[in-house]
Amino acid sequence: MHTIAVLPGDGIGEEVVRESLRVLETVSAITGFSYRTETYPYGAEHYLKTGETFPDSALREMKDHNAILLGAIGDPRVETGYLERAIIAGVRFGLDLYVNLRPIKLYAEHLCPLKGVQPEQLDFFVVRENTEGAYVGLGGLMKKGTPDEVAVCDMVWTRKGTERVIRYAYELAQRRARAKRVTLVDKANAIRPMDLWTRTFEEVGREFPEIEQDHAYVDAACMWMVKTPAWFDVVVTSNLFGDIITDLGAMLQGGLGIAASGNLHPGRVSMFEPIHGSAPKYKGKNVACPVACVMAVQMMLDYLGDADGAALVENAIASALRTKKIPSLHAGKIPTDRAGDVLVEEVKAQAG
Ligand code: IPM
Ligand code: MN
Repeated sequence: MHTIAVLPGDGIGEEVVRESLRVLETVSAITGFSYRTETYPYGAEHYLKTGETFPDSALREMKDHNAILLGAIGDPRVETGYLERAIIAGVRFGLDLYVNLRPIKLYAEHLCPLKGVQPEQLDFFVVRENTEGAYVGLGGLMKKGTPDEVAVCDMVWTRKGTERVIRYAYELAQRRARAKRVTLVDKANAIRPMDLWTRTFEEVGREFPEIEQDHAYVDAACMWMVKTPAWFDVVVTSNLFGDIITDLGAMLQGGLGIAASGNLHPGRVSMFEPIHGSAPKYKGKNVACPVACVMAVQMMLDYLGDADGAALVENAIASALRTKKIPSLHAGKIPTDRAGDVLVEEVKAQAG
């Protein structure tokens, strides 16, 4: 029996999580994946009512679950980034979820904004370092609000942190039957301390002689992602660069409405979430696209060892998109609950 902590969070989080749990229930009836969920209230409503963001006790409880499913965090009534740092970063750092795994995969040609790109030409993973870099919170403001104001933000990379995420990327490329190529994305020409990434990449790569070592500076990587996306197999990069290039990657797949991520510490409790935010303007309107959150469930099933269930969900999404039963990944094109119905039906159809 798997136990899953569910954090619907803010904005559209609740609606997309609701549809995702319906899909999970359908899958479980087919594959026998056994689970129970425990729902947590953290997010803006809870914070405004109680003053509590994400207590230590919740973090401790998370460790007793097998996985965490997160909807979205963020609300205009609360200071920018406050809840995101407390909850999303709180879990990522608190549980040492050092891999942020983000698939970039095209399921139907019409979804891609690039001309003539076929689904088989866009299928790669970004492995984003998830516990270091610009996100560690070192720095601050001095003489705030004066003409002499100073803002400092340190990016921190450790040898251990760099090495473990790079090793994960090589292992992923090894498991995949694709180009067997890992592309390191950094900015070591302008940010010289990033040379730690360059050297670690090369050294760890010696353990994987069958994997090609490839490299692109982050600015050029953005260009290549648009120009020749088929080149990429596995990309490994730092926290901030990974954040940025995966929004670009999401657009190549058809929109933020499909992009999902796994925040992983292999072998331990891990967190799965859509990469989109809480989209407050769509809250409660039944217009948000639930596909990204359903895709997060797909990644969760895969992580928890239900490969059949994961394949069912992925095939269901692919079919719903190819047939245009879900016509678009943007908000407002199909009601959220109707998209959920389609995916539930497709899962059942896939199972025969
Ligand atoms: C993401 C998000 C978060 C990040 C925000 C909400 C803190 O953009 O998961 O990509 O920057 O990591
Ligand atoms: Mn982001």
